[in-house]
Amino acid sequence: MAEPFLIGEGMTGGYGGADILHACTVAVDAGEIAVIVGPNGAGKSTAMKAVFGMLTIHKGAVRLAGEDITALTPQARVAKGMAFVPQNNNIFTSMSVEENLEMGAFLRRDDIAATIEEVYRLFPILREKRRQAAGELSGGQRQQVAVGRALMTKPKVLMLDEPTAGVSPIVMDELFDRIIEVARTGISILMVEQNARQALEIADKGYVLVQGRNAYTDTGKALLADPEVRRTFLGG
Ligand SMILES: Nc1ncnc2c1ncn2[C@@H]1O[C@H](COP(=O)(O)OP(=O)(O)OP(=O)(O)O)[C@@H](O)[C@H]1O
Ligand SMILES: [Mg+2]
Repeated sequence: MAEPFLIGEGMTGGYGGADILHACTVAVDAGEIAVIVGPNGAGKSTAMKAVFGMLTIHKGAVRLAGEDITALTPQARVAKGMAFVPQNNNIFTSMSVEENLEMGAFLRRDDIAATIEEVYRLFPILREKRRQAAGELSGGQRQQVAVGRALMTKPKVLMLDEPTAGVSPIVMDELFDRIIEVARTGISILMVEQNARQALEIADKGYVLVQGRNAYTDTGKALLADPEVRRTFLGG
């Protein structure tokens, strides 16, 4: 099998105490959507942090387009085309929407106007609210700011930790549609989702993590059809 575009392979590590991840592997192919699901505390966010370089792993490796990036800082990974929207505190609440987008482009030295325009085309509400403090926006709109900010670096791979947390089902569907749209532009999406069933429906690849280990790995479709996965993780 061909090497995935981004892979965290056999990752073992934690926060200094006992290991949280145990030989955990997550990956995404170019232009595809990979989804990580699993119970609370399974290590989904930890796996994302490990892939982004916010956590030291003492076994395993992270590779991007075939290059070993295990030792790189998060900032160096951004320079290589990775973007990450963390689960919490993913926007600057006291800054305006547009300032948030500008902050996202802090590493760029070229003109960012066209990228801001692209973000506004993807999320029209952000254009309307561009002068408003991001902290005054609704949950779904804040998530759009966070995703938009990540897109400002023109990433090749976008990592999202629970992009639909705390939003209504309708807003969730809309966000998923936008995420599919982003993937269609060729950007790989690696995302953690609490809404497992809906997320697996749009996933090319799915990972079920349990206690820091890979429990099931397959296409989104196959996981949705697996009776064991359905019974244990999808509520039947
Ligand atoms: N900064 C931290 N320091 C120490 N332990 C942590 C830290 N963050 C998470 N943990 C521990 O790591 C384990 C996995 O947490 P993690 O946040 O990765 O789970 P998760 O699958 O993302 O859960 P959730 O669905 O609730 O977001 C938990 O036992 C948690 O207590
Ligand atoms: Mg989490």
